[in-house]
This record gives sequence, structure tokens and C-alpha cells, in this order.
Amino acid sequence: MLILTFPDYLPQSQNLAAKLDVPLVQISLHHFPDNESLVRLPASLPEHVIICRSLNQPNTKLIELLLCAKTARQLGAQRLTLVVPYLCYMRQDIANQPGEAVSQRIIGSLLAELFDDVITVDPHLHRISTLNEAIPLANAISVSASGVIGQFIKNQLDNAVLLGPDSESRQWVASLAQKIGFDYVIAEKIRRGDRQVDITLPHGEYQGRTVIIIDDMASTGRTLANTARLLHQAGAGEIYAVVTHALFCDDAEAHIRVAGIKTIWSTDSISHTTASIKLDGLLADTINSII
Ligand code: R5P
Repeated sequence: MLILTFPDYLPQSQNLAAKLDVPLVQISLHHFPDNESLVRLPASLPEHVIICRSLNQPNTKLIELLLCAKTARQLGAQRLTLVVPYLCYMRQDIANQPGEAVSQRIIGSLLAELFDDVITVDPHLHRISTLNEAIPLANAISVSASGVIGQFIKNQLDNAVLLGPDSESRQWVASLAQKIGFDYVIAEKIRRGDRQVDITLPHGEYQGRTVIIIDDMASTGRTLANTARLLHQAGAGEIYAVVTHALFCDDAEAHIRVAGIKTIWSTDSISHTTASIKLDGLLADTINSII
């Protein structure tokens, strides 16, 4: 077995390779002036190859993954496992208007054609309940980070209210709250545009309370920032945020920090300064369960 990693996921892959005691090779990438990618793998490969990369900023990464998977097959890989802690294109699960691409199904089918196993962490599945409805593979595996996140929170704070900013977050927040025995509440969110969200806090007593906003991802940061502002107005004490996937596009982080969030923690599904919750143990256990 061999782990191949893309450079943007190297430190996390090193941790994973050490946990599994499997050799690791970094894929060599070159970007031509017109932004085409040249992908180089080792000249020969073992039967089972695990390819690791998170698919934030996905468009170039998906093409590189396609080149990598097809080349790995030509080089002799019989079984290809994709470890993709952040899985892109999962939000668009219906056509909101006639003619709109349902990217979840299209990207899911592509990954199913390329790989034998796909392992991801808390993908954004809203209207479907299992990952293999999006990626038609027997081994399309979605693992939850709630155990490691819960353990991390417990090590940081004795007590706090967990707050999910929208109904979609309920699945993650409820499971986390149950694991660590904290109270939780769920707010309401209306998204009016990419950078425009309206949040309504649920009724409750926030005065002086420590609140942790929990979300599966932060993209523009508006959801976290607007929720934090409302919590301050409601008299909350310290406000923290935990996100599984720190996409943090453009000015997201600055936007969140001025809203008065004391600390933001994320998993290392994406390399980022907030990534303090490691997923290597969870991913290694999952790989061990299927080999
Ligand atoms: C959406 O439903 C997700 O769970 C997140 O709340 C959302 O993607 C966050 O986006 P943003 O950071 O742009 O507000």
C-alpha cells in the first residue's frame, strides 16, 4: 500500500501515514503559464494506492485528481482509495431552476468512476441521508468529526451552550451536544445572497453565557459573524466558533474577527491557521476498517 498526497495536504498526510505505518509520496505538480496542471506520480505503484487531498478551491484540484487517478490506474494501481476530508460540490443537490446543474450528482458520479473507495468527513448532505446517494459506490464513507470535536471542546471549556446557525446544522450540533452533555440551540437563517445572510436567534437566556457557534463550514464567514453580533447584542459572554471545514474565502476571517469571536477552531481537513483539531486518528481508523 502507498499513500500519495498533494502538496496542499502534506502535513496531514504525513500524520496519517505515520498512524498507518504506510509509505507516503508527494505528487509533483507544475502549473503552466496558462494554468494547466502537470501531475507526476512515482513511475510504478503498488496494488493499493490511497490518494489524499481536500477539495476546497475545487476546480483545479478536481482536474488534478482526475489526472492523478487515471495515471495511477495506468501505472498498475488495482484499488484506488480517495481520502477527501473536505468534499466539494455537495451543496447543490437539486436544480433550483430548470437547466441548473445538480453538481452533487455529477461530481459524485465522477468520483465513483475514478475510485473504489471514497472517505470523507461530515459532507454537506442536506436532502439526502447517505453519501452513496451522491457517490454511487459501496464504499462511499462519510465519517463524523463530532467525536474528536467534542473531545477538543471538552478540553477547552467546562460548559457552554452550543449554537447551530441554521436548520441544516442541527444534525451536527445535536450529535455533538449529546456526546459532550452540553445544551444546544438552533437559530434560523435565510440566505439572501453569497455574502448576505439573515439570522434569527432562538428565544433563550444568553446573558453572560459562553456560547460556541458550531457549523460544518465557514465560507464567506457571514453566518458566523452575523450570529456572533446577535449574541453580543443579547448579552452573551465569551463567544467561540468551531467549524469542521475552514474554507474561509477572501476576507472571511477578518469579517468574523471584528464580530467579536474570541477563538475560532477548525479541524485540519483544510490547512489553515485555525486548524487545531486533528483528523488523522479518525481517518486512519476508517482506512483500517476497509482494508
Ligand atoms: C450552509 O448551510 C453551511 O452549513 C454554512 O452555514 C455556510 O456554508 C456558511 O457560509 P458562509 O460562511 O458563507 O456564511
